[in-house]
Amino acid sequence: MSKNLDTLLKEERKFEADPEMIAQSNIKQWMDSHNIKNYEELIEKSNEDLEWFWNEMAQELEWFEPYNQVLDWKPPHAQWFVDGKFNIVHNALDRHIKTSRKNKVAYIWESEAGEVKKLTYFELYREVNRLANALKKMGVKKGDRVGIYLPMILELPIAMLACAKIGAIHSVVFSGFWAKAFQERANDAKAKVAITADGFHRRGKDIKLKDTLDMVMDDIPSIEKVIVVQNTGSNVGMKEGRDVFWDEILKKESAKCETEQLDSEDPLFILYTSGTTGKPKGVLHTHAGYAVGTYTTLKFVFDIKDSDIWWCAADVGWITGHSYIVYAPLLMGATSLMFEGTPDYPDPGRFWKMIGDYGVSIFYTAPTTVRLFMKYGEKWPQKYDLNTLRLLGSVGEPINPEAWIWYHKNAGNRKCPIMDTWWQTETGMHIITPLPITELKPGSTFKPFPTIQADIVDDDGNSLTESGGHLVLKTPWPAMFRTLYGDPDRYVEAYWSKFPGIYLSGDVARKDKNGYFWIQGREDDVLNVAGHRISTAEVESALVSHPAVAESAVVGKPDILKGEEIAAFVILKQEFEASPQLKNQLREHVRESIGPIASPAFIGFVDDLPKTRSGKIMRRVIKAKVKEEDVGDISTLANPESVDGLDRAL
Ligand code: PRX
Repeated sequence: MSKNLDTLLKEERKFEADPEMIAQSNIKQWMDSHNIKNYEELIEKSNEDLEWFWNEMAQELEWFEPYNQVLDWKPPHAQWFVDGKFNIVHNALDRHIKTSRKNKVAYIWESEAGEVKKLTYFELYREVNRLANALKKMGVKKGDRVGIYLPMILELPIAMLACAKIGAIHSVVFSGFWAKAFQERANDAKAKVAITADGFHRRGKDIKLKDTLDMVMDDIPSIEKVIVVQNTGSNVGMKEGRDVFWDEILKKESAKCETEQLDSEDPLFILYTSGTTGKPKGVLHTHAGYAVGTYTTLKFVFDIKDSDIWWCAADVGWITGHSYIVYAPLLMGATSLMFEGTPDYPDPGRFWKMIGDYGVSIFYTAPTTVRLFMKYGEKWPQKYDLNTLRLLGSVGEPINPEAWIWYHKNAGNRKCPIMDTWWQTETGMHIITPLPITELKPGSTFKPFPTIQADIVDDDGNSLTESGGHLVLKTPWPAMFRTLYGDPDRYVEAYWSKFPGIYLSGDVARKDKNGYFWIQGREDDVLNVAGHRISTAEVESALVSHPAVAESAVVGKPDILKGEEIAAFVILKQEFEASPQLKNQLREHVRESIGPIASPAFIGFVDDLPKTRSGKIMRRVIKAKVKEEDVGDISTLANPESVDGLDRAL
C-alpha cells in the first residue's frame, strides 16, 4: 500500500462492562487464581511470556504424554507442544465420559421442519466410535484424507470426530457448494473416502446431495468408498461395491474404539478457503495447538459455563463451525444448539423463537444475519422471550455500528455485551476480540487476545495509529495454520513474505489512539477515489446508518478524473420506496457521515445482492457488472438471480 488508508468514519459510543458480568466471568476467575489484578496486567504478563500463558491453558487439557517444549518458532514455521502425545477427540469426548458430563446433552439439533434430536456426550462418543471402527475397516489409516460433504446434521460433527479419533485428516466441503467444488478439493487432498447424505432441506425444498456428488464421482479417482447418510429419505442411486449406507455399516460396529495417540503436530483437518487468485487454499490445522487455542478463546471470550446453552449459528462447513460448533464447545463440555435451516424460514422470527424455546444464553452470528433481522424489523424479536441471553457475538465481516446497536438493543435488551471477534480460517481461533470484562465500542473488534501482538503497518512495515494499513500479527499463536496443504511455497509467499516473519492477514484496519482495532475489509475491497483510499465497508456502514437502508454493497467504478468513483447498490427496508429523492438523500447522508469524497456517484436500488452461501457479498461480481465485464464463474453464488437485479439497477 503506497498511501495510508484515510479513515473518515469515526465512532465514539462506548459500552462499559457490567460489574456483575465481570465478577462471574471465566477470565476474571482465571486472573484471580493467577494473581492478576486487571486487564492491563493480564496483557502485560501474557505478552511478556506467551509460553507461560499457553502452557497454563494446555494444562487444562489431558495429554497421553507431556510435551517438552511449548513453542518451537522458526518463522514462518511453528511447532506447538513439541513431543507431546495428544488427540483432540480424547479431550472433546473420551475424558468427559469419565465425569458427570457423561449424560449431559452435547447437541440439541433442530431440523428445518422443526424436528428435535438430542445427543448426550455418551451417545455422541458411542456414535463416533462406531464410525471410527467402520472407517478403519474401509482401510482408512492415520494421515489418510476423508472428504466430508454433509449438511447441518448431527452426522457432520460425528464424521469429523471419527476421522480425528483415528488420526485421519478430514476435509469438509460446505454442502451449499456445487459438487465441482467438492471434486476440486477432494482431488487436491486425494481423499480416500467420501461421506455425504441423500439430501437436506432448504426453505421447504428437498436438495439432493448424493445425486449432485454422483455427477462428479467419476472425476475423483482417489475415492474408494462413499458413505451415505439417509437424512431426507429420498431415493438415491448406490454404486455396488463403492457406496454404503451410514446406518447399515454403523449397526455392525462396536461402540468402543481406542483413540489414536498422536503427536501434537499431527494434522487434524484441511479446510479450503478462497484466495485472491485461482485455486482455493488448503488451510491445514493440527491437533494440539488448535485444541488449546480454540478451547481457550471459547472459554474466555464467550465465557461458557456448564449451565449455558451455546448457539453458534454458522455452518460447520466454515471455520467458525469447525472451531466453535464442533471442537471448542466439546472441549469445554458445553451444550450447543445446532440448526439445519435459515434465519427467516418459515418466517423472520425463526431464530428468535429458537432462542426462546431452548433458553439460549450465548448467541454468535454474522453481521449479514443481523442486517437481515434489521430489514424485517423489531417486531420479530419482540414477539419472543429472549431473556435468557447474556452474551452475543459477531464474526465474519465488519459489523456496522448501526447494526451493532440494533443487535445490542433488540437481541440483547441493552444488557448483553457483543463480542465482535476478528479471525480467519488461517488463524483457527479468535485473534482480535473483546472479552466480557472490557469496554466496547460498536464496530470495533477491540484488541488482540492475550499473548498476540497485532499491528497496523504501512508498506514499509512502520506501525500506524489512527490511519489504515495492513493488519499483521507479529507473534505466533497455537491454533495458527501450519501450511497450505500440498503447497508450502504458497504458504510462505502469500502470508509471510511481504514482511518476513510477520503474518500478513490480507485485511486493512485502523488502530485508534486507545489501541482499539477497526477492521475495514480485505485489501482488495479498498477504493482509491481521487488519491484517497476509502474502505468499501466504511461507505456501506454510512449507508446502513440511514433509516431507509437495510443493506448495501459498494464497489469502485473506474473514472478518468478520480481514478475510481463510488458505486453503491442498496437494499431498502420494506417500508421504504425507491425514488430519485431518496437517492439524493442517501448521497447527502454519506456526505455528512464521511465527507464529500465518499458520496456515491452512482446508487442503484436492488432487492438482493450477490452473495456466497456463507453470506458474504461477492464484490467481484458487482465490480464486473459495474465495469461492464464478464461476471466469470458464479457457481459459488447462493442467489444467481441477483445478478439480473444489478443489471436492472445499472
Ligand atoms: O476480512 C476478515 C473477515 O473475514 C475474513 C476471514 O474470512 P474466513 O477465513 O472465511 O473466516 C471467517 C470467520 C472467522 C477476515 O480476513 N472478518 C472475520 N471476522 C471479522 C471480519 N471482519 C471484520 N470483523 C470481524 N469480526
